[in-house]
Amino acid sequence: MKLHLVVLVVTVVATSGRSSSLELLGNNELQFATSCPNDADIRPCECIVSSDGFSLDMDCSKVQDEEQLKAVFQADFPTSAFRRFTIHQNKQLRILRDGTFNYVTFEEIWITDGILEKIEDAALSDSASTARNLIFNLNNISIFPFSILSNFEELLSLDLRVNNLQGFPKLTSSTLKILYLSHNPLGSLPVDAFGGTPSITDLHLSNTKITEILPGTLQGLPKLRNIGLGNNQLKELVENSVQCNSNTGLVDLGYNELRTVHPNAFPGKK
Ligand SMILES: *[C@@H]1O[C@H](CO)[C@@H](O)[C@H](O)[C@H]1NC(C)=O
Repeated sequence: MKLHLVVLVVTVVATSGRSSSLELLGNNELQFATSCPNDADIRPCECIVSSDGFSLDMDCSKVQDEEQLKAVFQADFPTSAFRRFTIHQNKQLRILRDGTFNYVTFEEIWITDGILEKIEDAALSDSASTARNLIFNLNNISIFPFSILSNFEELLSLDLRVNNLQGFPKLTSSTLKILYLSHNPLGSLPVDAFGGTPSITDLHLSNTKITEILPGTLQGLPKLRNIGLGNNQLKELVENSVQCNSNTGLVDLGYNELRTVHPNAFPGKK
């Protein structure tokens, strides 16, 4: 009886034209792990099943425009929980629009080395309870929905290196550990910049046109390990500008214009 069930399910999979994976659990119950949509329904995107059969990745690097990307996610998705979304070196997509992903969720979203300028407020919201890594480096982003990140329960890293963010963002995330904002024309570092991100371990702020660090800016970050502040326009380090702790490893201040460093500029340093 059990054997018949197995054969039947395998036949259904084989004729449905989907790439799927099956797992026989220890208690002999059958379970679909993951299943891609039909290839034809998601072109020019590609759905890839990981070698262990348990994760799905979606690569949409060849997408022509915003409308086509949205249309792809109108297809029938037998599994809506994906691991990774990728668009790499796409020179068409300027805006990531609200509703694009149509309830499909990702743990990692990589849109890199393109011309992306704007991510709309709710474009990433479907993945609020799943996203761990958001990677948008090497684009031209000036509008990013920082205000919604407080809803992202699993967020660990946000990578916005080499973009066009003007002004330090208002960030709130109790989980965020690694923040990359290097190579953006931020212009200044507000004293409360990290008031909403207490779990930060790695801070990458090189080449962001920062001219000063106000006393206490880096206070309240007990897990801070690495601080990259190279290639800025710092002329002076005042008292308590770089609060260190027992975890602090690397503090990079290379390529600035430092003339004056207060004796107590690095409180907490061993
Ligand atoms: C970058 O984005 C700005 C709008 O914020 C736009 O005016 C500019 O043309 C873009 N640059 C490139 C190289 O696409």
